[in-house]
Amino acid sequence: MEEGRTMNYLIGIDVGTSGTKTVLFDERGQVVASALKEYPLYQPRNGWAQQRPEDWRDAVLGTLKEVMEQSRVPAADVKSIGLSGQMHGLVMLDGQGEVIRPSIIWCDQRTGEEVEDMLQVMPRERWIQITANPPLTGWTAAKILWVRKHEPENYGRCRHILLPKDYIRYVLTGVFATEVSDASGMQLLDVPGRCWSEEVLEKLDIPREWLGTVHESCEVTGHLLPDIAAKVGLTAETAVAGGAGDNAAAAVGTGVVKDGRAFTTIGTSGVVFAHSSKVVIDPAGRVHTCCCAVPGAWHIMGVTQGAGLSLKWMKDNFCQDYTAAAQAEGRDVYELVNRAVEGIPAGSDRLIYLPYLMGERTPHLDPDCRGVFFGLSAVHTRAHLLRAVMEGVAFSLADCNDILQEMGIHVDQMMACGGGGKSPVWRQMLADLYGCRVQTAEQTEGPALGAAVLAGVGCGLYGSVEKACDALVSPGSGCSPEEEVAVVYRQYHRLYKKLYRSLKEDYRELARL
Ligand code: XUL
Repeated sequence: MEEGRTMNYLIGIDVGTSGTKTVLFDERGQVVASALKEYPLYQPRNGWAQQRPEDWRDAVLGTLKEVMEQSRVPAADVKSIGLSGQMHGLVMLDGQGEVIRPSIIWCDQRTGEEVEDMLQVMPRERWIQITANPPLTGWTAAKILWVRKHEPENYGRCRHILLPKDYIRYVLTGVFATEVSDASGMQLLDVPGRCWSEEVLEKLDIPREWLGTVHESCEVTGHLLPDIAAKVGLTAETAVAGGAGDNAAAAVGTGVVKDGRAFTTIGTSGVVFAHSSKVVIDPAGRVHTCCCAVPGAWHIMGVTQGAGLSLKWMKDNFCQDYTAAAQAEGRDVYELVNRAVEGIPAGSDRLIYLPYLMGERTPHLDPDCRGVFFGLSAVHTRAHLLRAVMEGVAFSLADCNDILQEMGIHVDQMMACGGGGKSPVWRQMLADLYGCRVQTAEQTEGPALGAAVLAGVGCGLYGSVEKACDALVSPGSGCSPEEEVAVVYRQYHRLYKKLYRSLKEDYRELARL
């Protein structure tokens, strides 16, 4: 930067499932201030998952105010905000812009019947042609049909349909808009054409005017409302860029913006994501094809529903002593978990975990399957269960990676990110199972950095998403496969795959009980 010129700043907001993280960056991509606010996930029934959009709103406004107070950066120097968030969640607003019901979020599995209804109105092949994916239980369209069928009163009041981060855009700017990467996960978008599909909207009888305008991810979609700007310590000149769904934003934040690059993220969900300059579709629909945040490009991703969710479930229910010890020592509880599992051999002494706490997407597309510990014996300790959980998640991610390979997607750089990506033990499992090096980025903010980069491109601070990533994202440490361990994992992975096939019909029976 030239001497005497003032520094510009950008904010990235990531509306995640466990909480919202807001990060203020300088234009060189350095973190200046960061704030996190957690909120609950409600599970009123087995397989259902909801959150309160009002919780997201309060978390965003609270963390924005916090980063501005922490950093003491002059408000006028914050040029733009980028939004990232959990995909697929349904937010319904009435004519006054009020939230009608809790959001049915990405991992909710209640819409098996609605997926069947979607296949009645249009053949599977046509769904795949237009939306690049077969009808999926977790995606927004099926959730809209569920509300229409089960809550006609709520449906009757609906005037706007938004995704989680796009609801935040409405709160911040008063604008109803979305962008191509997140909109791809609604199953209402013509993914190759990057616009709403009139054909799908007509078949599902969903009014076009309920949906916001669709932008590219780096376009400016509006500016802060004056009262919001005043509340959080910013100005009404602050732009709000399109941003991206959390995975597309994480791609930008880890430099996965060119062919040959991919990443694995372990957040609440787990995702293996590869960039593609062409629309490539898995005819079996096991992995998703979506528009990515780089204009004119797409991505292919496989999704594990219960990745970090599985380990968090173990920690919350069975590791209260770790939580207390971590608090006392001022450390992250997952450091203690990592330390415990390090002493357990690969394969967890013949214990296999299937991570299907919320059904599974890749490769099974099965809302009814559920978690399993297979092979429990009296030799097993809590540390074995924790390691088996991490390995089970890694097996599921390896399933995703195998499909990308099968589709001929060439990967020469695999990055790791998300909370779980910080664990060297988990990263080593991925390297062993993928048979390739797994690399971190020096910058650990993933989706928040990606959203900020998109905001910076939108307001002209950077020439393009690719140029910004070249300048701001640098490689961190990496790990390579260890063949001796990899042989063991391959045997366990084979048995892991067989277990689902053996249990498939039993899961149906369980769901009917
Ligand atoms: C992707 C998906 C999740 C959510 C939550 O299809 O459902 O990764 O975006 O993070």
